[in-house]
Amino acid sequence: MRTKMVAGNWKMNKNLQEGIALATELKNSVNTPACEVVIGTPFIHLASVAEVIKGSPIQLAAENCADKESGAYTGEVSAAMVRSTGATYCILGHSERRQYYHETPEILKEKVLLALKNDLKPIFCIGEVKEEREASIQNEVVKSQLEGSVFNLSAEDFAKITLAYEPVWAIGTGLTATPAQAQEMHAYIRSLIREHYGEQVADDTTILYGGSCNEKNAAELFANPDVDGGLIGGASLVAEKFTAIINAR
Ligand code: 13P
Repeated sequence: MRTKMVAGNWKMNKNLQEGIALATELKNSVNTPACEVVIGTPFIHLASVAEVIKGSPIQLAAENCADKESGAYTGEVSAAMVRSTGATYCILGHSERRQYYHETPEILKEKVLLALKNDLKPIFCIGEVKEEREASIQNEVVKSQLEGSVFNLSAEDFAKITLAYEPVWAIGTGLTATPAQAQEMHAYIRSLIREHYGEQVADDTTILYGGSCNEKNAAELFANPDVDGGLIGGASLVAEKFTAIINAR
């Protein structure tokens, strides 16, 4: 039985004090969730938030890590540093990193390997932009993103990955994929995993949906057999909304 999950991605929001306050609210409102709950915070929040959520079921994620192990890379944060804060997950391949910071499939492949080497579980994001959806090439796009960065992994390592399908046209736009669109893509992604790794790994892989998922549409999205949960941006910044999404899973 694969893990069901609701993960938040705070992106570049909340200063340290605000982040600690939000984590404290979440710790108090998330008691016995029916799914894995993860919050992804900016690097500088990680160590403090790890302290706040200690003893709660909430897990911690970074939103990125470096593609180098250590050394003279000014401003970068390594996977080992992330892990040393208490974080157990690392969001990688987010479309905002691909688009604004030019992260290529090759760079992401390195990041995934370094995360795994340092005992961090990647939440690996894939998804097409609007023009690609309009040209009906979303399947090809997602397939090449998987082939470029994670299908090189052994089955044992791939089993540590959570995938997040995030159609870029749905991120922060209020334009959610319909439950049918999400299910269709998730089933396709699972079929690709089946081809590469076989039935068992495909069945066990958690595939999240992300893109304007909120407390109103979460239940309908999560009702689909191949949608195992959500990666939540905007709605993860408000404790009541994020808790409602967790309760919908
Ligand atoms: P929104 O939920 O704000 O659309 O963001 C989704 C996302 O990018 C999560 O990683």
